[in-house]
Amino acid sequence: MSNALFDLTGKVAVVTGAGRGIGRAIAGALAEAGARVALVGRDAARLAEAARQLPHGAFAAAADIADEAAVIGLRDVVLGRAGRIDVLVNNAGVNPIYAGIEKTSLADWQNIIGVNLSGVFLCCKYLGGAMGEGGAIVNVSSVAGHVGLRRSVPYCASKGGVELMSKALALDWAKRGVRVNCLAPGYVDTDLTHGLITHDTLAETYRAHIPMGRFGVPRDMAGAALFLASPASAYMTGQSLIVDGGWTAD
Ligand SMILES: NC(=O)c1ccc[n+]([C@@H]2O[C@H](COP(=O)([O-])OP(=O)(O)OC[C@H]3O[C@@H](n4cnc5c(N)ncnc54)[C@H](OP(=O)(O)O)[C@@H]3O)[C@@H](O)[C@H]2O)c1
Repeated sequence: MSNALFDLTGKVAVVTGAGRGIGRAIAGALAEAGARVALVGRDAARLAEAARQLPHGAFAAAADIADEAAVIGLRDVVLGRAGRIDVLVNNAGVNPIYAGIEKTSLADWQNIIGVNLSGVFLCCKYLGGAMGEGGAIVNVSSVAGHVGLRRSVPYCASKGGVELMSKALALDWAKRGVRVNCLAPGYVDTDLTHGLITHDTLAETYRAHIPMGRFGVPRDMAGAALFLASPASAYMTGQSLIVDGGWTAD
């Protein structure tokens, strides 16, 4: 029996990028809290395998969030199967390059902005637009949406955009009763960061800047996401919760 503040029984939650990494941990936490979770990503087989591990009728819904027609189709699939959308966690994201702007092509920029910023815009527009009163949107941004990171111009631009888009949308939808907040992770060990976190020399440099002395694991993000998705945060909108082991406090 879950605590009523964090109870999502009867709710339908859509989590993008739910096949692995942070999204998978968040999907697990929402399902543990009672939600029926739709797991979104491009790798249908991986999503189906992840959905099988979860209770309450979790199901896979493959879609490329950077493709408008695919996101409209995703909304229709979720509404067709589950009948409603109460929670949307916009977690899917990419960061394929680590380079100065001189070595960043327009195609690199458009790819990162297309998934990390336009993808969140599309999911908010179509899936958030289908929510009723009491809906909660959690946009997974990054510490890179709060401070600049070296050799990460498009990624920082995309995450800063998500932060301010979320505040603007929170204002527009406050009277509809749909809340919009951000979860901003620090460095978390996933496919996205594994090269850095296991790097011979860079790993120690980065770890030395984390007051808690360790990189995060995906499960470290789950409690904050559940808080922002649940009645526990009912009077909170347009805000950003930074979960980074103290990194940006330094
Ligand atoms: N790891 C960190 O240190 C860290 C720090 C701050 C913020 N974040 C943010 O946290 C989020 C999750 O990152 P992660 O570390 O868990 O990364 P990850 O392990 O690389 O997972 C990324 C997820 O996004 C999905 N995805 C990528 N492009 C997509 C697209 N076009 N359409 C649908 N799904 C797509 C992937 O699924 P498919 O491959 O199946 O499409 C995958 O499930 C991202 O927004 C990331 O920017 C991560």
